[in-house]
Amino acid sequence: MRGEGALVWDADGKEYVDMLAGFSVSNVGHCHPAVTAALAEQAGQLMHYFDLPGEPRERLAARLAAMAPGDRRRRVVFGTTGADAAELAIRLARWYTGAPIILSAYGGYHGTTGATMPTTAKGGMWAYFYPVLPQDSGHAKIPYSYPYRCPVGAAPEHCAEACLEFTRRMLLGKESPFAEHRAGVSNVAAILLEPMQASAGYIIPGAGYLRGIRELCDEFGFLLIDDEIQAGLGRTGRLWACEHEQVVPDMILTSKGLASGLPISAVIADDEVAASWGPGAHVGTFTAGALACATANATLDVYESEQLVKRAADLGSYFLDRLKGLRERHPILGWIDARGLFIGLEFVRDRVTKEPAADETAWMLDFCVREGLLFEKGGYYYNRFQLIPSLVIEKELVDRAVDILDRAMTMAEERSGIAPA
Ligand SMILES: Cc1ncc(COP(=O)(O)O)c(C=O)c1O
Repeated sequence: MRGEGALVWDADGKEYVDMLAGFSVSNVGHCHPAVTAALAEQAGQLMHYFDLPGEPRERLAARLAAMAPGDRRRRVVFGTTGADAAELAIRLARWYTGAPIILSAYGGYHGTTGATMPTTAKGGMWAYFYPVLPQDSGHAKIPYSYPYRCPVGAAPEHCAEACLEFTRRMLLGKESPFAEHRAGVSNVAAILLEPMQASAGYIIPGAGYLRGIRELCDEFGFLLIDDEIQAGLGRTGRLWACEHEQVVPDMILTSKGLASGLPISAVIADDEVAASWGPGAHVGTFTAGALACATANATLDVYESEQLVKRAADLGSYFLDRLKGLRERHPILGWIDARGLFIGLEFVRDRVTKEPAADETAWMLDFCVREGLLFEKGGYYYNRFQLIPSLVIEKELVDRAVDILDRAMTMAEERSGIAPA
């Protein structure tokens, strides 16, 4: 198997338009020459040294701190994987606030380690922890705005507001475990959220949801941990997805695309929060190794030289126009969530009842892969396509993908007797 830009070839040499990009890892495209050159150069100098604060790491830390939204002073703490960063942020939030509970959302995904599994809402994965449950009990779930199927039953345009109201009532109420307001005791350390939910099927919350969550954090005095591991680094057409709502989080998690395939993660935290920890609070043998840091710096250089954030925004709006064209002709396409190159398509048998078209979705995915278009499906009902190409994808490849999707929908509608619009 090999890859170049937004294309991959399998072991038999068959070519695919890659709309998975290693799950948002290959944002600058596969094997970008500037990234592979930096990797080779660093490998010739020093591959690894435990916890060495060398030049690539210092430079990366300073860059990430400067990239955070808002004008707060930031400090960067490195990890090795996405889950490692989430776990780090959970521990740091508890340490800083002295409170035990972490709120996370239905549909959220933050890792599958013992300490992150409680924040990951995947029942199937939970089952594999039996007979020992994920380690931690200081967790609770809040509803996440999913306008097409609002978890608290509101219409799409009111879903954000209704989810916030539900959460606020729980935070205020006496019959929920979050506070004893008369004694001034808060039990909540932080809300840990994806600004747009990736693993749940690339769901974009209703307007105002993230801003409302920030306001709840401020009102009740706990931290906002913003998991930008998939939605961040330009994918949604802004450097950080939280910027769409002018939200400034207390901690930002980044990983996946940061080093184009080498394992690294970082928590970009408020200086005061991170400084409350002493040295050695979070260490790992391979954390922020020289190879990963050099590769991350080269990746960020490509972001700058190729203006990838703007590119994701421009190409994303072109892609969305083409997808809207498909929705006009294909009743099976019930809903489109798209911001930049963070795209979820939801398929239904009937637009009125919204009956999920799970079998059709599986059939269409199979068809698309056979036709040379690579991506994953997901969603609450296994009825969503998840399209997350690299940010360097060419317009012609978007057109090729739309043509394959068009044919897949036509055939699925014919097979299931869904009348074309
Ligand atoms: C939003 C988000 N957070 C955290 C993680 C966990 O990252 P890792 O698989 O590197 O532990 C993922 C992985 O898919 C993710 O999508």
